[in-house]
Amino acid sequence: MTLPPTVAAHVPTGILIDGAWRPAGSGRTFSVNDPGTTESLFDVADGGSEDALDALTAASDAFPQWRATAPRVRSELLRAVFETITARTEDIAALVTAEGGKPLAESRAEVAYGADYIRWYAEQAVRFEGLARRAPSGANHQLVLRRAVGPALLITPWNFPIAMIARKVAPALAAGCSVVIKPAQLTPLTTAYVAEIIRAELADRGLPTGVINVVPSASARSISGPLLSDPRLRKLSFTGSTEVGSALLKASADTVLRTSMELGGNAPFLVFEDADIDAAVTGAVQAKMRNAGQTCVAANRFLVHASVAEEFTAALTVAFDKLVVGHGADEGTTVGPLIEQAAVDRVDEVVSEAVDGGARVRTGAERPDRPGYFYAPTVLDRVSPDLRVITEETFGPVAPVVTFGSEEEAVALANSTPFGLVAYAYTRDIARVLRLAESVDTGMLGVNRGLVSDASAPFGGVKSSGLGREGGEAGMEEYLESVYVAI
Ligand code: SIN
Repeated sequence: MTLPPTVAAHVPTGILIDGAWRPAGSGRTFSVNDPGTTESLFDVADGGSEDALDALTAASDAFPQWRATAPRVRSELLRAVFETITARTEDIAALVTAEGGKPLAESRAEVAYGADYIRWYAEQAVRFEGLARRAPSGANHQLVLRRAVGPALLITPWNFPIAMIARKVAPALAAGCSVVIKPAQLTPLTTAYVAEIIRAELADRGLPTGVINVVPSASARSISGPLLSDPRLRKLSFTGSTEVGSALLKASADTVLRTSMELGGNAPFLVFEDADIDAAVTGAVQAKMRNAGQTCVAANRFLVHASVAEEFTAALTVAFDKLVVGHGADEGTTVGPLIEQAAVDRVDEVVSEAVDGGARVRTGAERPDRPGYFYAPTVLDRVSPDLRVITEETFGPVAPVVTFGSEEEAVALANSTPFGLVAYAYTRDIARVLRLAESVDTGMLGVNRGLVSDASAPFGGVKSSGLGREGGEAGMEEYLESVYVAI
């Protein structure tokens, strides 16, 4: 796609260290492509370990001054960043669509969602909660102060190029941490654009520009490797696959690094016999098709009571057939491309395996004949729960339907996975909702809603879906440590 000149001329393609954009030390670059056409958009600096260490030096040098900066000053900086991002919604949305593929309406929604994290943490920056009390023995007083943990490495995924960086960088900066950002290789442009907004605000206000550093790279390990073994780094926040998260956790052990991990999901979408089926279908389309199914909170398994399964599946098929697959920048598109060819191949493989295993195709299960990385919205039923389309996170526009006969069976199916990020449930029975909240292994539960994400709420999972929370009050805790003073 052709980017508006207002954006194209202002996308930084270098490495940001201590307030200046520069090429990679190696001089190498990598290409960022439009997944809706496969064409190259920009060549971006391919940072290496020397660049990463320079970025950490800048972040460590800036940290003492930033931590000592008045909370109100940090808050006002973030508020200004929120205002600028909001004012430039159209430009940033165009960039999100160009590098990530999602339809423009979704990109605008992502800009608003990302900006909301920055606004929320601008508001939280002045609300540090400590504790003062008399010790139980009566012998002394206890004071517990909250203090920024230190320079943080933020590693972001490609699927939400503004929201994911916003929900890491905003609480980090609000808490008083400085950061090194390693953006996703596939979508580094939006992160660079937003980082430049933050850099400019810091510089205009005479604040230390080393607070934010960005090192894009085609090799994540060449950035994380040297940084995770450097004791100056005090925090890692990662969003991505469980496999990579687990490797990062191991690499963080030597320096006993504080970590936050937002990892894979395998969300069950439960439709009970008393559900409002129209509402469930609307929620299912939202929970499944946001970013063409490429979200870690995407409904991955549709578990439907046998008595309403046909009604739900037929209506979901009609709804999927109304979706318009196309380039994200084209008028009317409601489903964009997948991020790369490997993603299409994987989705196709998992769907073919399901069909070979007895699943029935209600719609889709094909690659549209057009340039770009597209896969048709797909509904499968009669799916056996042991197939990969159920047991693994599909990360594509595929809705497999499995039936159940009782609430106990539904909960057992929902929990039959190592993951526990989010679950969705459609039911009119409030007692059942409370039972599900107690019995489903999940960090988040959407009740009669296909979207749970909210800047003010704790986003995160249990089991192999991660450690810690992002968003809300909990999101800032991840960047703070306690200092207990006995007086
Ligand atoms: C993700 O897919 O990692 C995040 C989705 C969200 O914040 O809603």
